[in-house]
Amino acid sequence: MKFIIGSDHAGLALKAALKAALEDMGHSVEDAGPETTESTDYSRYALQVARAVSSGTYERGILICGTGLGMSMAANRVRGVRAALCHNEYMARMSRAHNDANVLCLGERVIGLGLALSILEAWVGTEFEGGRHQRRLDIFDQVNN
Ligand code: RB5
Repeated sequence: MKFIIGSDHAGLALKAALKAALEDMGHSVEDAGPETTESTDYSRYALQVARAVSSGTYERGILICGTGLGMSMAANRVRGVRAALCHNEYMARMSRAHNDANVLCLGERVIGLGLALSILEAWVGTEFEGGRHQRRLDIFDQVNN
């Protein structure tokens, strides 16, 4: 799959680790930045990644900040984006199976590397179940205000 990944200064180290893990799994990964730990605004990267997924240029996005909260709030403002903040594997699996999440948000200050990698694997490896879940997404997915 084609991924795009972004962070802020608080998510930089985890971003590098997850990018490497995705590439090891055979996926292509575009790094939207930033490149240094200089303090920056998570919102900019969230919107950049969310727009790239919304437009179809990338199939999935990953966003990492200190908590994952700001990233998920900002990304979900972009139409067609279903960003899920997941801090365990169950949430990651369900965000794909029931919510067809197309952006995964994580907090580098909240979880360790091992858990983050397990969450990533669960999220990447779970298919959307469709059916009644698609109907529920349709109710809010096209909202334009
Ligand atoms: C940065 O200090 C922090 O606020 C940011 O990484 C994130 O946690 C925001 O939601």
